[in-house]
Amino acid sequence: MPHRQNTDGAATRKRVAIAGATGLVGSAILQELLRNPQYVVTILRRQGSNSHYFQSSQPNSGESTSAALSVVEVDFSSFDSLRSALQGHAVLVSALSKVALSHQPRLIDAAVAANVSRIIPSEYGADLRNPLVRQFPTYSAKVKVQEQLERHRIESGTSYTLICSNVLLEWALMSPGALLLDPAKRVATIYDSGNTAFSVTTLATLAKAVIAVIDHYQKTENRAVYICDIVTTSNEIWQMAREAAAAVLDDQGGLWQAVQVSTTASRIAAQAAIDHGEEIGPKIFYGFAVSAAFGAGYGGHFETTDNDDLGVQRMTRDGLKRFVSACVTAR
Ligand SMILES: NC(=O)c1ccc[n+]([C@@H]2O[C@H](COP(=O)([O-])OP(=O)(O)OC[C@H]3O[C@@H](n4cnc5c(N)ncnc54)[C@H](OP(=O)(O)O)[C@@H]3O)[C@@H](O)[C@H]2O)c1
Repeated sequence: MPHRQNTDGAATRKRVAIAGATGLVGSAILQELLRNPQYVVTILRRQGSNSHYFQSSQPNSGESTSAALSVVEVDFSSFDSLRSALQGHAVLVSALSKVALSHQPRLIDAAVAANVSRIIPSEYGADLRNPLVRQFPTYSAKVKVQEQLERHRIESGTSYTLICSNVLLEWALMSPGALLLDPAKRVATIYDSGNTAFSVTTLATLAKAVIAVIDHYQKTENRAVYICDIVTTSNEIWQMAREAAAAVLDDQGGLWQAVQVSTTASRIAAQAAIDHGEEIGPKIFYGFAVSAAFGAGYGGHFETTDNDDLGVQRMTRDGLKRFVSACVTAR
């Protein structure tokens, strides 16, 4: 297989390990890695996991999957198991679920011990460099990982890249209880006035950003990279959803309802629940996440991005319309 020159000039056929490859984000990243022949990919599979790797990434769908691929079973609670699986890899991409983030510090220590040179932790969301968001209790595991990566950079020279994408569109428009549109219930959520701008990113663009980070190895070392498809508002998404629904069936536009949510009230309620001793679960997470994603001044609108510098395309406004329409009219 020919080696490809990356944009930093080095001949590469990098060995990349990925954790969380079956997840929403991980499967999109895996699919993109498999499209790129300059990578040799190792999936770190959780011991005893019943997950199937290829349902969403479809390597046998006729697309080029010339990258070598192997699956290694690991015990995420064992440093030795992780270190041994990571030996010989240049890059670790973590896409571990929020609920598995307690494993991430061990995974990172093992990667450093195995001489992995670039670590991309499981971030893919809010801008944790924003001082207001950085204090949110729901992001403390991710903030600790950032601090851990910085310590490793100083002590061992291991490099890292944090990828900020703000809201992932598929998650916000399609998942159960989605933050912006819930097609099953025909409900759109309007945050605050509905006119606060925020950045959104598709899974496909996020996955391309991961590849671009690895390809632009030096340019992206030891910093946060900001990626987005487009800047929108919750009023715009609501308007697009209504138009799309009305275009399918005359009365469907009317069947959609909008509910208004205050990001401040959500955050205060979540903090009050913590103060009353409630454990952080999905409801509390949501209370803080809506401020981080949609609240004015919380960094959800990226003023500048790395898209152009890394060659990652954006979505057009018509593209967003088509995306929303596909969500609304999906059966
Ligand atoms: N910005 C946004 O809008 C947005 C939306 C969603 C997610 N995210 C972020 O993206 C990242 C990935 O989230 P996701 O939703 O893609 O995750 P996910 O789909 O819930 O799961 C990802 C992976 O985590 C693994 N996993 C689950 N429990 C585990 C455990 N106990 N030990 C080891 N592995 C475990 C699963 O592996 P198995 O196959 O072994 O089960 C799965 O492949 C997170 O950092 C999340 O915060 C951001």
